[in-house]
Amino acid sequence: MKKTLLITGGAGFIGSHVVRLFVEKYPDYKIVNLDALTYAGNLENLKDIENAPNYVFVKADITNAEDIYAIFKQFNFDGVIHLAAESHVDRSITDPNAFIQTNVMGTANLLNAARLAWKGNFEGKRFYHVSTDEVYGSLGAEGFFLETTPYDPQSPYSASKAASDHFVRAYGNTYGLPFVITNCSNNYGPNHFPEKLIPLFINNICNNKPLPVYGDGKYTRDWLYVVDHARAIDMVYHGGRNGETYNIGGFNEWQNIELVKLLCKEMDEKLGRTPGESEKLISYIKDRPGHDRRYAIDANKINKELGWYPSVTFEEGLSKTIDWYLANEEWLNHVTSGDYQSYYAKQYADKGASSFYGE
Ligand code: NAD
Ligand code: TYD
Repeated sequence: MKKTLLITGGAGFIGSHVVRLFVEKYPDYKIVNLDALTYAGNLENLKDIENAPNYVFVKADITNAEDIYAIFKQFNFDGVIHLAAESHVDRSITDPNAFIQTNVMGTANLLNAARLAWKGNFEGKRFYHVSTDEVYGSLGAEGFFLETTPYDPQSPYSASKAASDHFVRAYGNTYGLPFVITNCSNNYGPNHFPEKLIPLFINNICNNKPLPVYGDGKYTRDWLYVVDHARAIDMVYHGGRNGETYNIGGFNEWQNIELVKLLCKEMDEKLGRTPGESEKLISYIKDRPGHDRRYAIDANKINKELGWYPSVTFEEGLSKTIDWYLANEEWLNHVTSGDYQSYYAKQYADKGASSFYGE
């Protein structure tokens, strides 16, 4: 094998697309997927490549420093692509400590393991940290996040990701660890856990359940198809400059309510419902505390430097995503059984949405 790469969080939403891309595109790389399999990690996401000769799965928790160092010694990695994280803002509001542990301490454990295992000989090595645009805070009606925008995280999730970004840069500056960081906008696509807006609403529309829109619904997000994020990660891993940050986004802003209406329209067509039927499920509920108003990425740097552009329009990506969920009812049933029900009840019960339960 030419290279051995560690991908953390590879059983999650974005990580599974990154693992698949690398396993299929680079048969001469050994791809080690390290994941703790939390509620968000699911090996069903990787069934199609689980027997590939260049793929290895290791169940481990990045908060366990000893285990992580032992895995680095065992595999002698050439590079790391770090995606493992607690990733949902609403959960970070209920339980911030889990985010501090995994996103901050877990990232520090990986940095320490890389530094020790590579023994200061960083030739040909790379530590790639996958981050979010949420570290930049919230925009008003105008403007975009640039790579130079000062960090101003507003939620426990974004604060923990910002802290982890700072640690990665600090290890680069202090120890010379070769790193690259990307900050990406909101992803959507197949295998997205149905706690985030798009998959949650697809699932609820299928089940004729209310669609819980926070606040006035005029919050804005910049949406990118997950496969395009994975393509960008491949390009940055192989072509990005050491010590640089690249913002990733598709210049694709949507107010939540407009997106939800488009989703309802598409779902009506695909489910053979009367036009307007799914929209009736929209239900405005109590806002998320500290809700960031608008995110929007300026992706000019990655466009110009690496020639990366999204491959699908939002309409195409959304249509593919809905088709995937409609074709993968079993996947959806598995991930929404058990703990999901109690999460859902707790998350939405005290927000003027009590009629959601006991139906
Ligand atoms: P996800 O929640 O779907 O998956 C996270 C994965 O990490 C899961 O497989 C989980 O089992 C694993 N994990 C969690 N804690 C772990 C631990 N302590 N040890 C080992 N593994 C652990 O997340 P995602 O949406 O795929 O996001 C992946 C990365 O991309 C995250 O770092 C996130 O901050 C970043 N990101 C996400 C988005 C987005 O829209 N989802 C946008 C930009 C950046
Ligand atoms: P989400 O998918 O949680 O991503 P993030 O908060 O990281 O951007 O939410 C996207 C937007 O949708 C955000 O403005 C919050 C809103 N939202 C709702 O209105 N209702 C919901 O049930 C959820 C989960 C999100």
